[in-house]
Amino acid sequence: MHDSTPTAGLDRQETLAVLIAATRAPSLHNSQPWVLRLRDGAVDVLADPARRLLVADPRGREQRVSCGAALHNVRVALLALGHRPVVTVLPDPSDPTLIGTVRPGGPRPATAAEQDRFAAIGDRHTQRDEFGSQPVSADTVRAVRGAALRGGVGLEVVTDPRAVERIAVLARRAHRVRMEDPAFRSEVARWTAWDGPRDDGVPAELGGPVLSPSSVWTPSGSAGPPGSAPRSASPLPAFLTTHTDGPREEVRAGAALQAVLLTATTHGVGVAFLTDLIEVEPMRTSVRRLLGLRRPPQIALRLGPATAGPRTPRRAPESVLAPDSDPLPD
Ligand SMILES: Cc1cc2nc3c(=O)[nH]c(=O)nc-3n(C[C@H](O)[C@H](O)[C@H](O)COP(=O)(O)O)c2cc1C
Repeated sequence: MHDSTPTAGLDRQETLAVLIAATRAPSLHNSQPWVLRLRDGAVDVLADPARRLLVADPRGREQRVSCGAALHNVRVALLALGHRPVVTVLPDPSDPTLIGTVRPGGPRPATAAEQDRFAAIGDRHTQRDEFGSQPVSADTVRAVRGAALRGGVGLEVVTDPRAVERIAVLARRAHRVRMEDPAFRSEVARWTAWDGPRDDGVPAELGGPVLSPSSVWTPSGSAGPPGSAPRSASPLPAFLTTHTDGPREEVRAGAALQAVLLTATTHGVGVAFLTDLIEVEPMRTSVRRLLGLRRPPQIALRLGPATAGPRTPRRAPESVLAPDSDPLPD
């Protein structure tokens, strides 16, 4: 059955499921900065230059992270649909917008865990409200760290309450620095859906990107008196780290980010972002120094007990197809 259709060996329903999974990936301000292409039996994820946030993301790093997350969702969807995915990252040196290609590499029955991860794509959402107050269990920390490591990316989870306090201070400072820039503020405002329905951006009723958790974050764990034993803090800051900086590592970080988010979702853990800490270089350096990180941090997160949250919109799968894509199978 799988070989009789023109698109990646998938029928129309499966192809749509793969495309929808890709579009459910997180992205900076829900900019959905990707284009998808069905070609020669593969699914390509491309960065859409028109959807890069020029002020918040001058080097395109956040866009590559977002596209890496979409690429991972394609992989997860193919696994759940019974295909072994073969993933190539940045396959064409002459085309840096081609973030990656996933090709079905033959039939392979999906495991229950793979089905759960696929289901988690639809359940996952960024934690926008306050987290619950329970500590994140050591088992969960191990599971999300394992998810990152399987993608070749480190995950440094900060549990020392004194370090958490310092990171909270740095995060607030980084957010203030960025919000002082009028160009940054007006770009943020453009991605906040202020009137009428939109299929991208962060709706105003969700707070919009302006009320980023980094601006309002007060860690619920406290450091206690000097010399006292550290108490556990919640939520926990966490940093995805790669071997080096550069586009390939950013795509890998994005794929690992999505692996972490899906694992967190299946464990009832919500995740919020602290991107200001990465994009304001002096703060990134301070985090590195504070935590003694030997590898550069690419993505800054907070992990804590999830609470239910509303969904952000997405563009319809047909409208994210590249003009030169093969058509959807009949
Ligand atoms: C690379 C990247 C950076 C992000 N940075 C932030 C951030 O600094 N603050 C924030 O509140 N959300 C941030 N987000 C989350 C997005 O706003 C969110 O993914 C998007 O609005 C879609 O919503 P969803 O994740 O609930 O599906 C980031 C997401 C990505 C992928």
